[in-house]
Amino acid sequence: MSDAEIHTQLPKALESFKEPESGRAISKTGQVGDWTVSDGNVSCRLSLTSMVQPIATEIADALRDHILANVSGVKDVQVQLDTTYRAAPTIGQIGLKAKSVIAVAAGKGGVGKSTLAASIAIVLGRMGAKVGLMDADVYGPSVPHLLGLEGRPEIVDGKIQPIKSGDMPVMSMGFLVGKDQAVVWRGPMLHGSITQFLRDTAWGELDYLIIDMPPGTGDVALTLSQLLPLSGVVIVCTPQEVALLDAGKAIAMFEKTKVPVLGVVENMSGFTDPESGKTFNIFGKGGARAKAEELGVPFLGEVPIQMDLRSESDEGRLADVLLDPTIARPIENICRGVVRSLVTQIANRPTVSAQLPVL
Ligand SMILES: Nc1ncnc2c1ncn2[C@@H]1O[C@H](COP(=O)(O)OP(=O)(O)OP(=O)(O)O)[C@@H](O)[C@H]1O
Ligand SMILES: [Mg+2]
Repeated sequence: MSDAEIHTQLPKALESFKEPESGRAISKTGQVGDWTVSDGNVSCRLSLTSMVQPIATEIADALRDHILANVSGVKDVQVQLDTTYRAAPTIGQIGLKAKSVIAVAAGKGGVGKSTLAASIAIVLGRMGAKVGLMDADVYGPSVPHLLGLEGRPEIVDGKIQPIKSGDMPVMSMGFLVGKDQAVVWRGPMLHGSITQFLRDTAWGELDYLIIDMPPGTGDVALTLSQLLPLSGVVIVCTPQEVALLDAGKAIAMFEKTKVPVLGVVENMSGFTDPESGKTFNIFGKGGARAKAEELGVPFLGEVPIQMDLRSESDEGRLADVLLDPTIARPIENICRGVVRSLVTQIANRPTVSAQLPVL
């Protein structure tokens, strides 16, 4: 096979490779270019959007494998990664500009939803995505405390200005009521404040809006699903049987409301004594993976019990402690899992023609 013949086969091969964010053929999106072929060695440039930056290298590897499998005579493929911009669509009726909205929920209180929601948001941002974090726990907001954020959001041109953690916009009831102030919520007020957080906050353009859900599954989830189509939910659970049962119920609840379950995270999965190096499975281990397999949802990974994660986030330094590679690594793994799950959903979405009614 000559280099020229390889060259002519390449565009055809790209017709069956899906661009991860839109699910369209990458041959149509103009994100692959600068082809050269020399002695059967192909090189090209692949431009990816900020949304999929967390899994950019695996997309490049997949493109390489795709070309090797679909174009005869190719010896090797070099993919040069690059970034490109694509505007976020407006979601629902509320004017939020976000490519995806992801809830972090559990069937139980105290399993680490807030810690993981905030950690996932921070780490996705550090991996190159544009992220906002919304604390939907209006009864007991904990995000401002975890991130050491204070201050009152200002209103500019009728929009609530979120408080920033680094460059990530954050909105929480904690910024609006005093730390020790008790708020008695009635249903309509709850609905109203969640609506305001989504509709009236100057979020800017986001790849991911991560939502920290309150304990329990009822009201807030319902309100959210009335306001916008959630892109998916991440279920956090701990390894012991009682927690797994509740996680199963939460999954069933979200599936009933047609919210895709992006996957399950096992938090507090074992503790390794830093001195002896010995691991203790305090709440057990592996239960969440088994549960996810049983229910046919992805398993996104484990986060061990880490003393620094607890102590530093209690002091408002969650963003700092996540600079420690040992603490960040499990979260990075989960972030990649979340993006992968979302991309798989997009790729499996029925195409427009498949949605047309059969006459
Ligand atoms: N992997 C972990 N290692 C150590 N401590 C953890 C870990 N995950 C969570 N924690 C600690 O567990 C406690 C509960 O976590 P968090 O507040 O995130 O849970 P939650 O599910 O949001 O709770 P709630 O249901 O009250 O909203 C916190 O003190 C947090 O620091
Ligand atoms: Mg919480």
